Amino acid sequence: MYDVEVTVKENKRVSEVLWILSFRSPAIAKKALPGQFLQLQVTQATDPFLRRPFSVYKIKRDIIEILYEPVGIGTRILAGTKPGDLLKALGPLGTGFTPQKKKKVLMVGGGVGAAPLVFMAERYPYEKMLLGFRGKHAVLPKSEAKAGERSKWVYATNDGSLGKKGFITQLLEEFLKEPDAKQKYFLYVCGPGPMLYETARLAGEYQVDGEISLEERMGCGMGACLGCVAETKRGYLASCRYGPVFRIQDLMPEGLQCH
Ligand SMILES: Cc1cc2nc3c(=O)[nH]c(=O)nc-3n(C[C@H](O)[C@H](O)[C@H](O)COP(=O)(O)OP(=O)(O)OC[C@H]3O[C@@H](n4cnc5c(N)ncnc54)[C@H](O)[C@@H]3O)c2cc1C
Ligand code: FES
Repeated sequence: MYDVEVTVKENKRVSEVLWILSFRSPAIAKKALPGQFLQLQVTQATDPFLRRPFSVYKIKRDIIEILYEPVGIGTRILAGTKPGDLLKALGPLGTGFTPQKKKKVLMVGGGVGAAPLVFMAERYPYEKMLLGFRGKHAVLPKSEAKAGERSKWVYATNDGSLGKKGFITQLLEEFLKEPDAKQKYFLYVCGPGPMLYETARLAGEYQVDGEISLEERMGCGMGACLGCVAETKRGYLASCRYGPVFRIQDLMPEGLQCH
């Protein structure tokens, strides 16, 4: 794990609500695995005091990219940063997704939950990237897919303005209904609580294995403050240290709803 001062290379808007920020860090770029995250100090001022957690979205040589949505004080400051500004990055932190050799991977993401899935998709083969967004204005553009893989990206939007109208879990269920789904598929999932809950419910119903990356609110990011505990079948675990990636079957479904 490294704690490095980094210089913003680029900070660009890729949809009405999504931004990509990039900076150079050869040390983090060499070590980070899909599913791991960074604690970013978004300003050199003291407010906000706590760093904010962000999944690694892409690594291009020694450049790290973060995909984010401005939702509050820290992420709005991030949206205002310019090339040349200094940030601090701590990481890579947490556990990554487990690469699959035998099963076909279905990625299931909602909103900025797409970030760790896209990183996984950059490194490992997958069958489909199922992405849910509020509407067309909030979608991660297909130009972000690896060359030749745009047709694997399938969208659902709540208002039907792009892709299937409704929730991405409805599209997921079409795959899980296949007679050999249990033997065939493995899920990587990241997104808002209701989506995680429904995905875990479907995974249980169709007995399909998989992993969920939790985006708990975090303080220290290193297992010290217990601000990020997740309810698991092994008890309450700090998701920054024992996660953020957990086996779906290890999580208590009721605990997922409030993410
Ligand atoms: C492991 C991990 C990976 C993450 N990866 C990404 C990512 O790749 N891109 C991205 O945009 N965001 C990601 N997040 C969420 C991101 O950390 C929060 O959006 C950010 O910390 C909010 O900071 P803020 O100061 O802008 O918001 P605040 O001013 O602190 O809060 C604004 C609003 O956002 C809500 N909020 C804050 N944190 C979270 C959270 N973790 N989950 C849900 N709601 C929250 C608050 O309840 C409040 O309503 C990740 C979180 C974790 C734990
Ligand atoms: S954020 Fe402090 S223990 Fe996880």
